[in-house]
Amino acid sequence: MNILVTGAAGFIGLHTCLALQAKHMIYGIDNLNDYYDVNLKKSRLKLLKKYKNFQFLKTDIQNKNLHNKFKRIKLDVIINLAAQAGVRHSLKDPFSYINSNVLGQINLLEFAKKLNVKKFIYASSSSVYGGNEKMPFSVKHRVDKPISLYAASKKSTELLAECYSHLFKIKCIGLRFFTVYGPWGRPDMATFIFTKKILENKKINIFNYGNMKRDFTYIDDIVKGIKGAVNLKGDYKHKIYNLGNNKPEDLKRFISIIEKNLKIKAKRNLLPIQPGDVAKTSANIDESKRELNFNPKTSIYEGIPKFIEWYKQYYKIK
Ligand SMILES: NC(=O)c1ccc[n+]([C@@H]2O[C@H](COP(=O)([O-])OP(=O)(O)OC[C@H]3O[C@@H](n4cnc5c(N)ncnc54)[C@H](O)[C@@H]3O)[C@@H](O)[C@H]2O)c1
Repeated sequence: MNILVTGAAGFIGLHTCLALQAKHMIYGIDNLNDYYDVNLKKSRLKLLKKYKNFQFLKTDIQNKNLHNKFKRIKLDVIINLAAQAGVRHSLKDPFSYINSNVLGQINLLEFAKKLNVKKFIYASSSSVYGGNEKMPFSVKHRVDKPISLYAASKKSTELLAECYSHLFKIKCIGLRFFTVYGPWGRPDMATFIFTKKILENKKINIFNYGNMKRDFTYIDDIVKGIKGAVNLKGDYKHKIYNLGNNKPEDLKRFISIIEKNLKIKAKRNLLPIQPGDVAKTSANIDESKRELNFNPKTSIYEGIPKFIEWYKQYYKIK
C-alpha cells in the first residue's frame, strides 16, 4: 500500500514509519517545528531516510495545497500523527492546538476526500476522558468533559472524523493513545524529563505529591495497534479504540525503576497537581484486543531499561 504518515519526524511517527516501511511505501511529512529539540526530529529522519520505501516532504498539515503534491500517487491510507502535543503547554499556547490539531485534521480529511483516500487513521488521546471517574476508561463512555485544551482539540478531531466518515464514506479510525514511552521518546514527557534530570543531579518535579497512576504504554505495543488499524477490514464508518497497557502503574514505582536502572537516587520536589492533569488513566482494551489484535506485553520493568539504554547511547552518556 501507499501510506501517508504525518508527524513522521515525531516519536510515534518514527516508529510507525520504521515498522510499516517493511511492507508498504511510506510518504512521511512533518513541519519540524521547534516545540522541542529539532535535532532530535532530524536524527529520527536521518534514520528513516536510509530506507528505500520512505520518502519525506517538509510541510505543514495545514497546507491547503498539500493534496496537489500527492495527485500522482494513489494513496491507500492516511495516518495523521502530526499534532501539537502536551497537556501543560496547552495552557500557554492554546492557538497552536487549534491550528495543528483541529485545522490540520480538517485539512487532511479534505485531502482524503479530494484524492479519494479510503482510510483515515488518526491519533487521539486518553486525555479525552478528562473528568471521567469511571475506570477503566472505555470507548463506550461519554467524553464531553475535557479538562485541558489539548483534550478538547483531540475530542474535536474525533468529531471531525465522525462527520467526514458519514458524509464522504472515508473509513476513519481514531486511536486514543495512553502515555506512550520508549526509545526516541519525547523530551517533554515524564520518562525523558526524569531520566535527564536524575542524570544531571537536578531535582525532579513530582506532581500531585506522586499520587498519580498512568497506563504507561511501550512504543512497540502501540505500533502493533497502529498496524492492526492499517489492516482492519470489514464494514465500518468510524471506529475509536483505546491503545493503553491496561495496567495502570504508580508514578512512584515508575520513578523507582528509573532510579534503579540509572543507579542514582532522585532528588524529589513534591508539588500539587497541575491544572489540566488527570490523576489516573486506565484503558479498557477489550475491543482493541478483539478487533486490532492489540495485545500489549511490555511491562515498565522491560520498557524503562530500553528507554535508558537508548538515551545514554544517543546523548553519549557513559
Ligand atoms: N506520546 C504520547 O504519549 C501520546 C499520547 C496521546 C496522544 N498522542 C498523540 O500521538 C501523536 C504523536 O505524538 P508524539 O508523541 O509522536 O508527538 P511528537 O511531538 O513527537 O510528534 C508530532 C510530530 O508532528 C509534527 N507536527 C506538529 N504540528 C505539525 C503540523 N502542523 N504540520 C506538520 N507536522 C506537524 C511535529 O514536528 C512532530 O514531529 C500526536 O497526535 C499526539 O497528540 C501521543
